[in-house]
Amino acid sequence: MTQTAHGVEFTQHLSETPKSAEERAAILANPGFGDYFTDHTAIVDYSVDAAGNGGWHDARVEPYGPISLDPSAAVLHYGQEIFEGLKAYRHADGSIWTFRAEANAARLNKSARRLALPELPEEYFLGAIRELVAADKGWVPSGDGEALYLRPFMIATEAFLGVRAAREVSFRVIASPAGNYFGGELKPVSIWISREYARAGRGGTGAAKCGGNYAASLIAQQEAEAHGCKQVLFLDQFNDNAVEELGGMNVFFVMKDGSLVTPALSGTILEGITRMSVIQVARDMGREVTERKITLDEWREGVASGEIAEVFACGTAAVITPIGVLKDATEFIGSEDATAGETTLAIRAQLLGIQTGTVEDTHGWLTRLA
Ligand code: PLP
Ligand code: COI
Repeated sequence: MTQTAHGVEFTQHLSETPKSAEERAAILANPGFGDYFTDHTAIVDYSVDAAGNGGWHDARVEPYGPISLDPSAAVLHYGQEIFEGLKAYRHADGSIWTFRAEANAARLNKSARRLALPELPEEYFLGAIRELVAADKGWVPSGDGEALYLRPFMIATEAFLGVRAAREVSFRVIASPAGNYFGGELKPVSIWISREYARAGRGGTGAAKCGGNYAASLIAQQEAEAHGCKQVLFLDQFNDNAVEELGGMNVFFVMKDGSLVTPALSGTILEGITRMSVIQVARDMGREVTERKITLDEWREGVASGEIAEVFACGTAAVITPIGVLKDATEFIGSEDATAGETTLAIRAQLLGIQTGTVEDTHGWLTRLA
């Protein structure tokens, strides 16, 4: 039993068969994204007692392994599931830090409210991350742009086929060493415009981070890949083709005067922690940032006239990735030969610098984990 700094106790049951240092080193030499997992997982369960009182209990770290679920578990039928994504970064002195984890804890609870799941007290969220990283600290890579990707998630485990909010839920965190999400070196990506499929609609779950949103995006993502594109762009077809976001990232435009524009939060897009950090970092660098409606027409005309100088995608997995081309059967905006823009690279360097400890963390965004 260990006591975390947050006052929540996690029972430790460490793996008897962790990967050897050699196996781990081979994986960390080329981690990719989401292919390999560490030796442990952190778990906190929730249940409602006979008197109707719900509570979180049995906080623990266990060896990584399959989950045993009743085939009637609600998550398998009605998709009552939410998740988060954040990273642990290794600094030059070997210490390990996480970035704005409190914001992820808050967003998890926002998603929980939308999906009728119980909110998780922040100390459990932070405690689970701290305990998991403590058990798996050898898995945090140190290469440029590399980190340990942490995937907290919450699932409805109750065995019951009636359609209502589950009374048994499990919160878990798994971890995966991560390099560039798009593989290889950083270079501009091509994006496919989804015309037929929307990711989210008014009153739907677009602002929540729930598995269902990603399930709904996969057919569009397949279409994108079939056309040689790495991600899909979702538009609001009922609002002048306003730019929403990519399947797993927010979008920013760098205007020719050096200011930035990003689509305003509309209730149908996810409020990215990277998005909010880019807004702050760019303002700290003296740039003007506007959150407003920006349409596909403005994107097309802005690139043609030079008003829009650079476009980039951002998210925890993608960090900051330049967008070279936006296309579909009728559009081709940008250039296949595009190189990463100066402002995109400067903001990326500043943000990664804060995360990895080479740039001063003036906002108190980092928390030491190990
Ligand atoms: N939008 C979507 C749909 C995402 O999946 C993500 C990734 O988490 C983001 C935006 C960016 O969010 P964040 O910066 O918090 O990772
Ligand atoms: C993240 O960036 O954390 C995400 O969840 C996006 C996903 C495409 C991996």
